Amino acid sequence: MAESRTIGVFGAGWVGLVTGGCLAELGHKVIVRDVVPDRVAALQAGRLPFHEPDLPEVLARNSGRIRYTLDADELAGADVLFICVQTPPTYSGDADLSYVWSALDDLPRAERRQLLVMKSTVPVGTGEKVRAALEARSLANVGYVSNPEFLAEGTAVRDFMNPDRIVIGAFAPEDAAFVESLYVGIETPVVQTDVASAEMIKLAANAFLSTRISFINEIANVCELVGADVESVAQGVGLDHRLGPHFFRAGVGWGGSCFGKDVSALKQLAGNSGYHFQLLAAVIEVNELQKRRVIAKLEKHLGRLRGKTIAVLGLAFKPNTDDLRDAPSLVIASRLLAEGAVVRTWDPVADARERLQGATQCDNILETVRGADAAVIVTEWNELRDLASEQVREEMARPLIIDGRNLLDPQATRLAGFAYEGVGRPTSPFEALPEVAEREGAAKPPVRVSGPVEGVRGNREVPPARN
Ligand SMILES: NC(=O)c1ccc[n+]([C@@H]2O[C@H](COP(=O)([O-])OP(=O)(O)OC[C@H]3O[C@@H](n4cnc5c(N)ncnc54)[C@H](O)[C@@H]3O)[C@@H](O)[C@H]2O)c1
Repeated sequence: MAESRTIGVFGAGWVGLVTGGCLAELGHKVIVRDVVPDRVAALQAGRLPFHEPDLPEVLARNSGRIRYTLDADELAGADVLFICVQTPPTYSGDADLSYVWSALDDLPRAERRQLLVMKSTVPVGTGEKVRAALEARSLANVGYVSNPEFLAEGTAVRDFMNPDRIVIGAFAPEDAAFVESLYVGIETPVVQTDVASAEMIKLAANAFLSTRISFINEIANVCELVGADVESVAQGVGLDHRLGPHFFRAGVGWGGSCFGKDVSALKQLAGNSGYHFQLLAAVIEVNELQKRRVIAKLEKHLGRLRGKTIAVLGLAFKPNTDDLRDAPSLVIASRLLAEGAVVRTWDPVADARERLQGATQCDNILETVRGADAAVIVTEWNELRDLASEQVREEMARPLIIDGRNLLDPQATRLAGFAYEGVGRPTSPFEALPEVAEREGAAKPPVRVSGPVEGVRGNREVPPARN
């Protein structure tokens, strides 16, 4: 058990609340400060302002050790102040540190030494700048440590309590040791390093994860041209212990609050320092194009999309969160609206009504696909695993499924009477719906229900690589 400390947290978002809740779970006393009155009021009333599995239970279980406030001065008695505010991108693609600076403006004047711990993702060099700013404000009794966070939304509590590593970058070894002591009770390797390297570890990790996905997406795109199946390819490649299976699934591209901004921030950081990070430029471009490939696939089957009804299934950037920040669904739905399609959307928790004006958000899957010319799986929610049902087929005007996450079994889906197209999975060139095939002069082919690699998929017992 860790020695109980008093911990102040700036920011009641995903990282702040998970950090606060989990540190309370480890036995610390926690005060979370946010600047949004509604958010603080909701938390004080026991309501979580967003969807994150297990977090409500952690916060409820530790309610005696955690409180919420708008008043930064209430953090004056804390031993440690965690900065967990947002660092969104600016128009130039650099990280916007204005929320970090405003948190620094709000630092309470404490009698004793406090340690500022940066959990927000910041450019390399931020620690040095913060240290200088603290000195300029005569806050020399405030120490600084970089302790980047690696949790993933949807599994945030589990990730915090069972991390792959804890990274601590400090100017003084005793500060690093103090921060490490807060985590007693969590068994994991601790990487103690300098501040700049800790900042770079976080950016490099997100850049590499994004690179893996853009890489397998490009492989998928080539698979589509040469008749290979990216699911088998990813499995066969991922079983190499040097490569591993994680973050290696083809789809409609990565999104979320972190990848886009962090990859861009690292690319800009390199550029501002005089280095052109070519690989990251390609990683970003591949991802942008990947989202738009869905439109081309729909056109292949439906021709022009003007007036066609498209069901967009799944809006959150990934399952088990209601986070819509940088979600591929927003780009896909916006492109469809721009093409003149009628867009109907569904998500079990995310609400995109404000961001997707012009689209109709429905309450359930059947309502969404009713009368639709195609259904597009954008987020791999569990509820969509049974999409290829008789009921859905009967509700749709045309039984076409574009599976942007390779969630469904192609053969079973085709046998259920749907035209099916995944990502990087073999399709028959004749699989276009009959009226399009006829218009385009294709001879009517015999119906094919399986891809060319069916039967040579290898060991089905090995679970598919999941992101
Ligand atoms: N969300 C993730 O999955 C994740 C994972 C790892 C790291 N990060 C990084 O952590 C940081 C926070 O991300 P998030 O998703 O939790 O952001 P968020 O937008 O969900 O939450 C940030 C919170 O900080 C509050 N805030 C802003 N200024 C403040 C101030 N001066 N004092 C107190 N509160 C203030 C905001 O009102 C908001 O509630 C970002 O840098 C992000 O890149 C995020």
